[in-house]
Amino acid sequence: MLQALVTRLGAAQDDRLHVAFLAVVKQLHDLIGVLRPTGDELRAVIDFLTDVGHSADARRQEWVLLADVIGVSTRVEDLNAPRPDGATPNTLPGPFYRDDVPETPLGGDLSRDGCGPPLQVTGRIRDLAGRGVAGAVVEVWHANALGRYENQDPDLQPEFNLRGRLRADAEGGFHFRTIRPQGYALPEDGPVGRLMNRLGLRLERPAHLHFRVTAPGYQTLTTHIFDRADPAIARDALFGVKPALLADFRAAASGHSLDVGLVMAKGGQAA
Ligand SMILES: [Fe+2]
Repeated sequence: MLQALVTRLGAAQDDRLHVAFLAVVKQLHDLIGVLRPTGDELRAVIDFLTDVGHSADARRQEWVLLADVIGVSTRVEDLNAPRPDGATPNTLPGPFYRDDVPETPLGGDLSRDGCGPPLQVTGRIRDLAGRGVAGAVVEVWHANALGRYENQDPDLQPEFNLRGRLRADAEGGFHFRTIRPQGYALPEDGPVGRLMNRLGLRLERPAHLHFRVTAPGYQTLTTHIFDRADPAIARDALFGVKPALLADFRAAASGHSLDVGLVMAKGGQAA
């Protein structure tokens, strides 16, 4: 059967689409040989995929969620945005990034509603030799104390709440005030969430801040900094947690403090 398909496609068809199509079909045939699904089980798979499609629209992308929670998105990101030893790992930006956030002065407050426990963030952007990356642009965004992003809550949070765009100083340093973010759960009310629940898996994300750092001559760094103490730190549904991305939220005179060290690799503007 598989050979008949190869023959129909033609041996000369070696472009990427044909190669990928045949590789996927071959893997599926191999899988069927191992799992030997019944007709009912095949129909259940088709029904599930149909539900995923029906749950995808302009506001919600269940296909992306499926790719995320089975690790496909992060695997593709890891292959496409490798970083040398010593550089901060790149991760997915996630669905809540905005590129239109106005510039925030160093020391500014990202909380536009004042809701949540205070957090003072200091950080430094360095290169692999330990030198500060002067003038790097540091974009940051994170959820509020209820685990919600501003663009999930347009009626409850001010525009650009908990988002900032800062410019590092001559030593690559930056600092800002904000509130301590809470972890959150990805949508569990659709077919992907129901599947994960049947498997006993939650779609948790431990508390984190997102960063995107750009500087001429360096590879753009998109990453997370995670709260090491979050109870869900070992269960990130998007597989973004890596040892180099763990940080401690320390008790401070007023709220908490967080120190962030990010290391950029030289190169183009990839990722
Ligand atoms: Fe996030």
